[in-house]
Amino acid sequence: MTRKILVTSALPYANGAIHLGHLVEYIQTDIWVRFQKMRGSECWYVCADDTHGTPVMLRAEKDGLTPEALIERVHGEHTRDFSGFHIAFDNFYSTHSPETRACVEEIYARLDAAGMIEKRDVEQYYDPLKKMFLPDRFIKGECPKCGAEDQYGDNCESCGAAYTPGELKKPYSALSGAKPELRVSAHYFFKLSECADFLKKWTCAVPEERLPGMTPDARESHRRLQPEAANKMREWLDSLDDWDISRDAPYFGFEIPGAPEKYFYVWLDAPIGYMGSFKNLCERKGIDFDAFWKEGAETELYHFIGKDILYFHALFWPAVLRHARYRTPSGICAHGFLTVDGAKMSKSRGTFITAESYLKLGLNPEWLRYYYAAKLNSTMGDIDLNLEDFVARVNADLIGKYINIASRCAGFIGKKFGGRLSHTDAGWLKKFRESAPDIALSYERREFGRALREIMALADAANIFVNDRKPWELARRQEAEKELHAVCSEAIEAFRLLTVYLKPVLPKVAEAVEDFLGVAPFAWEDVLCPLPEGHAIGAYRHLMTRIDTAQVATLVEANRESLAPAETVKTAAAGADEGNVSIDEFMKVDLRAARIINAEHVEGAEKLIRLSLDIGETKPRQVFAGIKSAYDPAQLIGRMTVMVANLAPRKMKFGVSEGMILAASDPEGKVPGIFLLSPDSGARPGMRIK
Ligand code: MSP
Ligand code: ZN
Repeated sequence: MTRKILVTSALPYANGAIHLGHLVEYIQTDIWVRFQKMRGSECWYVCADDTHGTPVMLRAEKDGLTPEALIERVHGEHTRDFSGFHIAFDNFYSTHSPETRACVEEIYARLDAAGMIEKRDVEQYYDPLKKMFLPDRFIKGECPKCGAEDQYGDNCESCGAAYTPGELKKPYSALSGAKPELRVSAHYFFKLSECADFLKKWTCAVPEERLPGMTPDARESHRRLQPEAANKMREWLDSLDDWDISRDAPYFGFEIPGAPEKYFYVWLDAPIGYMGSFKNLCERKGIDFDAFWKEGAETELYHFIGKDILYFHALFWPAVLRHARYRTPSGICAHGFLTVDGAKMSKSRGTFITAESYLKLGLNPEWLRYYYAAKLNSTMGDIDLNLEDFVARVNADLIGKYINIASRCAGFIGKKFGGRLSHTDAGWLKKFRESAPDIALSYERREFGRALREIMALADAANIFVNDRKPWELARRQEAEKELHAVCSEAIEAFRLLTVYLKPVLPKVAEAVEDFLGVAPFAWEDVLCPLPEGHAIGAYRHLMTRIDTAQVATLVEANRESLAPAETVKTAAAGADEGNVSIDEFMKVDLRAARIINAEHVEGAEKLIRLSLDIGETKPRQVFAGIKSAYDPAQLIGRMTVMVANLAPRKMKFGVSEGMILAASDPEGKVPGIFLLSPDSGARPGMRIK
C-alpha cells in the first residue's frame, strides 16, 4: 500500500528575514520529503508564514505599513529565499487566510462545545501611552532576584532567573518607556490542566496508523517523540496550567466570534495554519482533506520543528486536536539549533547570515544543503556550521569524490565511443545496489549524516576503481579501447547510482545529471536497473564548482554589523575593528560645551531631572538626565557641562529628549555616585569638544 504522508515545517514569523539557522529546518524537512517522493509515497509538504501577533503589528507600525502590506512583502521575500535553496513546498501559504480562519473558528467552537474553554479575569500590565496590554517581552525592569537593570518581563539574562512580569522591580514599557499599570481584563483559557492523562499516554505511544505489522523493536523507534523530547514532556506534564488563548485589541489576528475586541493568541492559530495551508492545497489539487485530518485517519502526519517550540507542538497542539476531534500527529521531529564556528549566530561577528546574502553573493545553495545533511541526525542536538570545515568538506566530498568520477570518465565516452555506453552491470557495482535499503533506512530515520557517510564510502570505492584502471592511460593504447569503454561505462553507472542516492540532498545536480545521462527523473527504484548497453549519454558539462575560502570570508563580511550605541550601523569605517572605533566614527559624535540654564524635577519620574541646555543655538535644548540621585536641580543651574548634540531625539513619557549629557560612574556600582563632566573655565556654550 502506498504511504500517504503530510509533512510540515514550522511557520516562519512574518516579521523577519530567513537566515541560515532557519534553513537547518527547511533543508532537513525538504530532504526527507524529497526522499519520500522518490520512494513513490504520496507525500505533501506544506508551510506558511506565521503572520499574527504583537511583534508583526509593531514592526508594521515602525515601517509605516499596514500589517497586511508587511506580511505580503515578507511573503515575497520568504518565497524567494526558500525557492533559492530549492525548498520544494507543495504549498507555502499564510496564516492570514480564509482557510485558516475557518479552521480556527471551527476548532474553537468544538473546544467550547466540549467544555474545554473557560473565561477568566486576568490582571496584566497595560501601557497607558501606547494604549495596549503588554506581552511579557515588552515589559522591562530590574530583575527581582539579582537586581540587574533592563531585564525582560519573563527572565533575566544576567542571572537566568525566570519570573512573571508582576515580580519585576521598577517595571517600564519597552515600547514607550511609560510605567505600566495593572489592569483587569477577561481572557479565554483552554483547559490544558485537564489533558494530563491523555498527554501522558499520547507522548509514549506509537501512533495507531503505524502499528500494523510492526516488531517491538520497530515500535521503539517509531514513537511519536524522540527520547529526549519525551523526557522533557515528563517534566512539563507534572505541572500543567491552563493556557491563555486570547489577547486584547489592538492585536493583529483573528477576532474571537462572539467576543468583540478579543483575538485568538497567535500560538493558537499558528499550528492551525498547517491545516489552512493544506486545505488550500486540497482545494486546488482535489486532495481529500479529511483523509489527512479526520479523527482516526490512517495517513501519516509529521511536524518538523526546532527544539525551542516543542512545548507548543507536543503539548498544546495534540491536546487541542484531540478535544476538537481531529487526528493527532504521527510524529514530532525536533532538531537542535545552529551555531556558527561553535558560537551563537552573531550580528557583530557577521555570522548571522541571511539566506538572501548567501544567494546574492553567488554561493551555491547545494553546498549548504550537503553540509547540513552531513551534520544532521535524528536527535535534538545542536549542529555547528564550521566555516573552514564547510569549505573543506564540500570540496573534498562533492568535488573531489563525487563529481570527479564523472568528470574523469565522461569525456572518453563522448570522444571515442559516440556517446554510447558499453555493458554497465559489473560485479564491483553489486555492493552499490545492495546498499540501497540501508541508505533508505538512514534517510527514513532522519540519520542523514549516516546516509551520506555510506554514500561517500561508495564514492571512495568508485574512485579507487578509476585510479586502478587509469582510463587516461588506456586511452593512449589502441589495443585497450575495449577496456577503456568498459571502465568508463561502469564508472558512469557508479556515478548514476551515487546520484540517485544523493538526489534528496542535491536536487539540482541530480536534474543536471538526468539531463546529461538522458534519463527520466530518478526514482529510488531506478537503482535496480542499470543503464542498458548502447545507451546514449549527452555531452558532459561541469556539474559543480569548488568553494573558495574567499567567498565565505566575503559572506561573513557582508553580514557583519558594527554595534553603535543607539542603532546598529552597517559596515564599519576604515580602520575600525571589533571593540574599537575608527577616528572617523568617533568624529561623528558631536560633543559640545553646554550651559545648564534651567533644571527641574520631573513629576512621576524617580531618576530624572529635566535640563535646559544652551549650546549656542537660538533655542535651548531639552534633555532628560538620570542624575536625580546625585544632584539637586538648584545646584545645577548656571554650571557648564558636556553634551552629545547629535543624538537622535528620543520620545519619552515626559517629553522629547534632545541629547545627552556626560557623567562618570563606577560600572561595578562599588563607588556610589554620578559625576557630571565639565570643561575648564573659559569654555563657552557651543564650543566643539574633540
Ligand atoms: N512562528 C513560529 C513557529 C510557528 S509553527 C506553528 C517560529 N518561527 S521562527 O521563525 O522563529 O522559527 C521557525 C523555525 O526555525 C522554528 O522551528 C525554529 O526552531 C527554527 N529556527 C530558528 N532559528 C534557528 C536556529 N538558529 N537554528 C535552528 N533552527 C532555528 O518559531
Ligand atoms: Zn537577575
